[in-house]
Amino acid sequence: SMRVLVDMDPGIDDACALIQLVGAGAEIAAVTAVGGNASARQCALNAAGLLEVLGHDDVEVALGAEAPLRCPAETTPETHGPQGLGYARVPWREERISARPALDVWLEELRAHPGQSVLLCTAPLTNLALALRAEPRLPELAKQIVIMGGAFHHPGNTTPTAEWNTWCDPDAAKEVFAAFEGLPEERLPIVCALETTERIAYTPALLDALLADAGRSPVGWSADRVRQPGPLAGTGSAVLDVLADALRFYFEFHHDYDQGYVAHLHDLFAAQVATGQAEITTAVTVIDVEAESDLLRGTTVHDDRGIWGRRPNARRVTGNDPDAVFAAFAQAAGEASR
Ligand code: BDR
Ligand code: CA
Repeated sequence: SMRVLVDMDPGIDDACALIQLVGAGAEIAAVTAVGGNASARQCALNAAGLLEVLGHDDVEVALGAEAPLRCPAETTPETHGPQGLGYARVPWREERISARPALDVWLEELRAHPGQSVLLCTAPLTNLALALRAEPRLPELAKQIVIMGGAFHHPGNTTPTAEWNTWCDPDAAKEVFAAFEGLPEERLPIVCALETTERIAYTPALLDALLADAGRSPVGWSADRVRQPGPLAGTGSAVLDVLADALRFYFEFHHDYDQGYVAHLHDLFAAQVATGQAEITTAVTVIDVEAESDLLRGTTVHDDRGIWGRRPNARRVTGNDPDAVFAAFAQAAGEASR
């Protein structure tokens, strides 16, 4: 099986990514947390709690950067709930956070298993930027790097032009892409931006179908459940209760923003790309990130045409198959709940 080093800010769609990885049988080398959807510490607690519910409380969870390189730390409780997992509750245990900082965990893993671990980054890129400073050989030490972030054709989901992860730490994102410039194509990070991740528009009907496939009870969506705090789902599986209660919050958030009663599972898609499960098309490109102006903070600009005369630094995902992603998720979540 494949080793995956996961850097995340769970985060409801990050939680889906973790369920996907476990259910698909990926070997999770470690999970490192960074601030984004919630504080870095809360995200680490969430990751550890999710792993415990998933029966993997042996996986090391390490704390990464608590603030972006230069910008102040921001979180998004309106999108992911005050603790980052919507209405779901997981065991939050301080003692599960490793004594080792995220950077040490990464470098040891990558040096001990050169060319074997896939690095999946579904949060602001602060940890990756710091790791590249500490180990410039990182692109060769990783088997593959997969990033969720950016919005190439705009509009963004945080400002009209910027996606959340690149907006949170634009300096880190800029530094990361610069570090890959000119590397051979197979070393370039695969970037899943909003054009493809917003197509992973999950619905209550898809969740109920997933629960049915897993032989569990449906959520029973009804008006009296809207905005009811605390866990409600009685699916019969602790894993799927967490999933359903997290998603109920995410559906409501997207609804409030007039996107319909759907949830964009960005990080879930990135996880399937990391495990090689997703059928995708990609284009080699040059990505740069605006880190100076307020107006365009975190905006990703890509040059597919060689206008800048710079060497490629990324492969951006240009096409994906949402139905296949949903099917693979149903399968993985079913496995993870057994
Ligand atoms: C990204 O931002 C976060 O809120 C999500 O977890 C995802 O990683 C989408 O813009
Ligand atoms: Ca995330």
